[in-house]
Amino acid sequence: MIEKKLFFDVKEDREVIKKAYERMLREKEEGITGYYDLPVNQEDVIEEINDYIHNNEYLSKNLIKDLVIIGIGGSSLGTRAIDTLLKFSHNRNIVNIHFLENLDPLYLINSIKEIDLQKAFIVIISKSGTTIETISIAKYIFWLLKDPLKGLDIEKKIAIITDKESPLDRLAKEKRWKVFYIPKNVGGRFSVLSPVGLFPLAVLGYDIKELLAGANIIREEFLNQGMDMLLFKKAYYYFKHAKEKNINILFSYSSMFEAFNKWYIQLWGESLGKKNERGERVGLTPIGLIGSIDQHSFLQLIVEGPKDKTVTFLKLKNFELPVTVPHLSLPYLETTDFVNGRRFQTIINTQCDATMESVIKADVPVDLIEINELNERSTGYLIYYFELLTSALGAMLGIDTYNQPGVEMSKMLLRQKLSK
Ligand code: PA5
Repeated sequence: MIEKKLFFDVKEDREVIKKAYERMLREKEEGITGYYDLPVNQEDVIEEINDYIHNNEYLSKNLIKDLVIIGIGGSSLGTRAIDTLLKFSHNRNIVNIHFLENLDPLYLINSIKEIDLQKAFIVIISKSGTTIETISIAKYIFWLLKDPLKGLDIEKKIAIITDKESPLDRLAKEKRWKVFYIPKNVGGRFSVLSPVGLFPLAVLGYDIKELLAGANIIREEFLNQGMDMLLFKKAYYYFKHAKEKNINILFSYSSMFEAFNKWYIQLWGESLGKKNERGERVGLTPIGLIGSIDQHSFLQLIVEGPKDKTVTFLKLKNFELPVTVPHLSLPYLETTDFVNGRRFQTIINTQCDATMESVIKADVPVDLIEINELNERSTGYLIYYFELLTSALGAMLGIDTYNQPGVEMSKMLLRQKLSK
């Protein structure tokens, strides 16, 4: 389903890897973070989600035209990533999905204009239940829905996803809105396989059981192969060279990975940039590129710029669309005829191979993740793979992978400035 290959040598220190693996097992067993077991402990959640959709007249009878997700960061990036990966190979139940996340008024108001509020289902997602972007946008939508026509039957067209007893949970209970809970020990950026992603994806018609089954394949590898997984070698290399090769590029060869790259950037950046146990600043900088587009921009910097980067190539083997470049020879452009009759899929994947070869030749550490085809199963696997890799690196770096103290200060200053 998914093959992985490293194109660099790793002289691993088994002790470091063993310690990291043991820490991860402890995190899992002691419930320090709950994402490890999401693939296997959510039967009730899946039943609750399916029952709700089945019993909701608007969702079960396909009376909804727009699905509106209000949430930011870990509360929206994962859902957007999965939907963007899978939407072309599925007939969605609901045609339009809207992610309202930024307070940029021009973008927000124009996005809302595209929503038919009368036929919209609204999902408000916030673990803390107080994130200022999410709550401000929700307030604006509630204000619009005060129009009795638009707000018709709102309690059947809204769901909340949050922590138990958060302020948003209390509001929802008072209003008798449906609430799905995020497990307390599952943090935002690790939460896409919890109701945060499962509910909206199920509403759209994706097979969420398959998504979890895919994640469980690599969870089993983690539990059975343990520290012999290739993932630990890669994590060790990143850890060992964290100072001189501190930029980790994910070069994904399909535009469908645009949102996935953003999800990776959040996961990596917010988890791995912080102070370690000794108070030293550590951090790895994630960059997401799309092939072949970024061959025409960033590639030069990788090949001839400073040797401070690693590159992971993400390649989709089968796009399941046999479209070809027509046999059309254009005057003056005969030198491009070598692509005539070739599938677009073959060309983009050969571009990936060629670029990878050139980057390896430039002595840049490269690894490859090759996905046979995109479906819920392979997507679940991929999500969990990057989560595990992040945890492994966090353990080696000696940091708390799951907190984000560095983002609190700006929130406090915002409150101070706007309360004046
Ligand atoms: O990963 C994280 O914890 C953050 O990126 C959060 O997901 C983001 O800040 C949104 O927070 P909340 O879900 O509490 O609204």
